[in-house]
Amino acid sequence: MDREVPLAVDVLRRAGFGTQVARLLEYPRRSPDGAILVAEGANGTIVGVACCAAFATSGWIGALGVSPEARRSGLGTALTEAAVRWLRNHGAQTVLLYATEAGRPVYERLGFVAEQRAIAWRGVAGAAPPLDLQRLGDADRARIRALDQAVTGERRDAVLDAIHPLAGVFAGGWGGVVNGMTGWAIASPWGAGTAIAATRPETGVALMAAATGGPAAGTLIVPDGNLAANDALRAWRFVRLNDALRMRLGPDVGWHPEHQFGLFNLFWG
Ligand SMILES: CC(C)(COP(=O)(O)OP(=O)(O)OC[C@H]1O[C@@H](n2cnc3c(N)ncnc32)[C@H](O)[C@@H]1OP(=O)(O)O)[C@@H](O)C(=O)NCCC(=O)NCCS
Repeated sequence: MDREVPLAVDVLRRAGFGTQVARLLEYPRRSPDGAILVAEGANGTIVGVACCAAFATSGWIGALGVSPEARRSGLGTALTEAAVRWLRNHGAQTVLLYATEAGRPVYERLGFVAEQRAIAWRGVAGAAPPLDLQRLGDADRARIRALDQAVTGERRDAVLDAIHPLAGVFAGGWGGVVNGMTGWAIASPWGAGTAIAATRPETGVALMAAATGGPAAGTLIVPDGNLAANDALRAWRFVRLNDALRMRLGPDVGWHPEHQFGLFNLFWG
């Protein structure tokens, strides 16, 4: 597989994924809970790619793309079906993904249903609620997992435990506390965004401000249904970069978009 990774990256670049897609592939490449699936063309070249990340009873499909010259012959559908099979074999009862406009009809035909959009924004934060933030350390990992599960409804331990070093901050406080935390923000090694989970709107907005305080502009990917986050981004005049639609095959996982103030990426949320 290692030999094929640069070829898979090339396909994804030509399929319109940005220059950062190689970093995104590092997780499914290295994790025993991830996979990079490829479709080969007539002469043995790679013409399509789909990546998987399995989290206990849920699983994600991401970085799915087909070379422009190989489209509309069923490869996108076949790759999605193969990824669903791989995830189901790894315990997923629900398969999730963030769909582009091009991908949506393919997934709908396979039974995926729309949840809500996530939007990527870029800018420098302005005023935010004052909050005492503390640096995260390895001793906080169990608490990070617990809060992540309360927010996403998923057991994303595999990906959270793969973050080394752990660069981020957390907030304590009262009300909505999970194991002494009301929120955390973790810089993502795999995508552009900072992942932020918070049980209170003030905490979430303060963590967003901490993650994008400048001087250089920062990226935040936020669910459309998180009103507090969207109000803050509008007030800070962040610029909208792109968006994708979260879709699901299988039972609702009990996600709380109003508590998600930043996604790792548009692969596994
Ligand atoms: C989305 C994407 C992966 C789809 O790949 P694809 O190989 O073209 O997918 P399929 O061939 O299975 O299906 C695409 C269309 O071709 C049609 N099709 C499939 N086989 C066909 C055939 N033999 N003859 C004619 N049409 C065919 C399908 O019905 C479908 O039609 P519709 O979407 O207009 O309703 C591809 O367009 C792509 O890489 N896009 C850019 C990256 C991207 O957006 N990825 C999705 C991320 S979530």
